[in-house]
Amino acid sequence: MRQVVVSAPGVVKLFGEHAVVYGKPAIAMAINKRLRVAALPRSDGHVKIIARDLKAMGLIINVAGNGEIAIETEYGMAMNAISYVRTAIEVAKKYLREPRGVELDISSDMPVGAGLGTSAAVAVASIKAYASAFGYHLTNDEVASLAHEVEKTVQGAASPMDSTVSALGGIHIITLQDRSRLSMGPLPLVVGYVDRESTTKDLVNNVKELRARYPALIGSIMDAIGEAVLLARNALESNDLATVAELMNINQGLLESLGVSTGRINSLIYAARRAGALGAKLSGAGGGGIVIALAPEAVKEVKIAMEIAGGHSFPVEKDDEGARVD
Ligand code: MEV
Repeated sequence: MRQVVVSAPGVVKLFGEHAVVYGKPAIAMAINKRLRVAALPRSDGHVKIIARDLKAMGLIINVAGNGEIAIETEYGMAMNAISYVRTAIEVAKKYLREPRGVELDISSDMPVGAGLGTSAAVAVASIKAYASAFGYHLTNDEVASLAHEVEKTVQGAASPMDSTVSALGGIHIITLQDRSRLSMGPLPLVVGYVDRESTTKDLVNNVKELRARYPALIGSIMDAIGEAVLLARNALESNDLATVAELMNINQGLLESLGVSTGRINSLIYAARRAGALGAKLSGAGGGGIVIALAPEAVKEVKIAMEIAGGHSFPVEKDDEGARVD
């Protein structure tokens, strides 16, 4: 019995969030910040999860038998984060001839739950680590669709954006049915983040209600976001960063009109632009969370400006590698 460590990258949403839920394309990028799951097989049927960075410790769940995994013990843990791990094990155990127990130690070099796709990364890395610990090789394509299943189960609804990009790495244009990897050079971004004020589930629901009240108007905004994504794809593939940045600003305006930006997000965005970012927008569901800024000539200035505006900030790069056994 040996320990297997699997890491999976975080994800920033570059274009098309929210509209992707209604069939429009979106573009997302894996970043050079990883979440790691170390899996050590146990001889009993228990799964123990140690996840200091998820504020979860010593959770014991029973994986043996054909029934549902039962939580036996839990201590002061972040239930939302841990439910991704638990569901990942439930999904992955179907692929094992004889489901067995495992100890999972989870750590992250990015903030968890901020909007960097860490719930998808947790699902991706847990599935791959659990299977690998028992000698089963799942391809990253297989892991991507299993992790999407996990996200849908936990959240009720989720696009395949985060699970696909965390499993496969690189930059992808994604629709609900399809995906394609973009070939392009480096894309240095500065990430800023503030506390979340609302959950992804609530924000997706708010947009749904807005769309029900104003179907034609919100439909046109979704169409415009879809158009921005297609233009951004061409700009990214021709490394035309000035156009990419301009489209980020347009996409941000459209997200603002969907009601998912906040005053704190907007403060970071305007601070980043004033400090030399060519483009800046929220990334993900909004309601707080992540801001991304494209500032090839002013990374340090933009990072400091976002911190002064009340956020945390760090630079990120594209990571072409997805989930891997480290
Ligand atoms: C959340 O990161 C992105 C949304 O488009 C929801 C999803 O794609 O599942 C808001």
